[in-house]
Amino acid sequence: MNPEWQRSTVRDIPLYYNPKVSGIRMDTSTNPLGANPAAKEAMKECLDLDLNQYPTPYSDGLRRALAGRYELDMDHFVVGNGSDEVLDIIFKSFLEPGETVILPYPSYSLHAYFVKINCGKVALIDLSEDFQLDQEAMNAKEGKIVLLCNPNNPTSNTFRRKDIESLIEKGDRVVVVDEAYGEYAGKSFIPDVDSYDNLIVTRTFSKAYALAGMRIGYAISNLDLAGVMQRVKVPYSLNRVSEIVAIKALRNQDFVREGVELVNAERKRLEKGLADLGFRVFPSEANFILFKPSIDHSILVKELSEKGMLIRDFGKNRRLENCVRTTIGTREMNDALLSKIGEVLRECQ
Ligand SMILES: Cc1ncc(COP(=O)(O)O)c(C=O)c1O
Repeated sequence: MNPEWQRSTVRDIPLYYNPKVSGIRMDTSTNPLGANPAAKEAMKECLDLDLNQYPTPYSDGLRRALAGRYELDMDHFVVGNGSDEVLDIIFKSFLEPGETVILPYPSYSLHAYFVKINCGKVALIDLSEDFQLDQEAMNAKEGKIVLLCNPNNPTSNTFRRKDIESLIEKGDRVVVVDEAYGEYAGKSFIPDVDSYDNLIVTRTFSKAYALAGMRIGYAISNLDLAGVMQRVKVPYSLNRVSEIVAIKALRNQDFVREGVELVNAERKRLEKGLADLGFRVFPSEANFILFKPSIDHSILVKELSEKGMLIRDFGKNRRLENCVRTTIGTREMNDALLSKIGEVLRECQ
């Protein structure tokens, strides 16, 4: 292929994380309770669905259900194929080619990817030593959009609310708060979307709702911003089955609560277990934990995968040197993880 054929802004994009080994997945921060039971129930109903017909272009049924849950109008919501699609919609809607997006670092790697595929420039602003926002540096930087996730992936902490507020209140650019793990922290900017003209919050059904395989996410903002995004979004991007599953899942808040409570209880146990092994454990308000093992990160991840447990390696990344991330699992998963790590440590002696 002639290299000139490729758009210059996408030439250095690596393939996304795609492990070829199987095992217990503690590398993707999904829900340890397993698939949301609403999925099976809804899919039974879907057997009689007329799949010859398109969904509604903007997933009106799901937007109506979300509006009921958050006590907002349905037009505050833009629904997409995972919150990843919603992030893409945001850049397609508000970013001109060559404009800059300000991202804290380290954070979710796909944020920079979406900027690049939309021909934007990335300005990374390092988090402080304790992984908090440097809001002064972020406010001093010229940029069209600020994007951060709260809780932050992979560092697992939340940012101070007043720091995020100061980014929003600067007022001259769109600020996106990606709340993929918001249910675990119990903190949100959703109630604030009508108080600001520049705030967009994104959420997903992939984590606390345990529906990552269905690919459902959404943005919430004031009506002006949502109206812009709705017109840009590819019509019909959420399929009919996913929409029906999501509506049913929203009605089953007990399942979400049970998963969040399990994670909150297990977080303490897993943190203690990892600390007892002599590892540095970073504070978490998400459903995953970042830690620094006492042995080489790549050896730990590889040996664990050979023992059938997958965790995610960040150890080669600047600021995350030798760090790895594990999902907080069920009691059994966490005990198995700690015991396998113990085996690896013994084998390394
Ligand atoms: C911070 C963050 N945002 C968004 C996503 C993507 O979520 P979705 O599955 O809804 O595309 C993830 C997935 O891991 C994530 O960690």
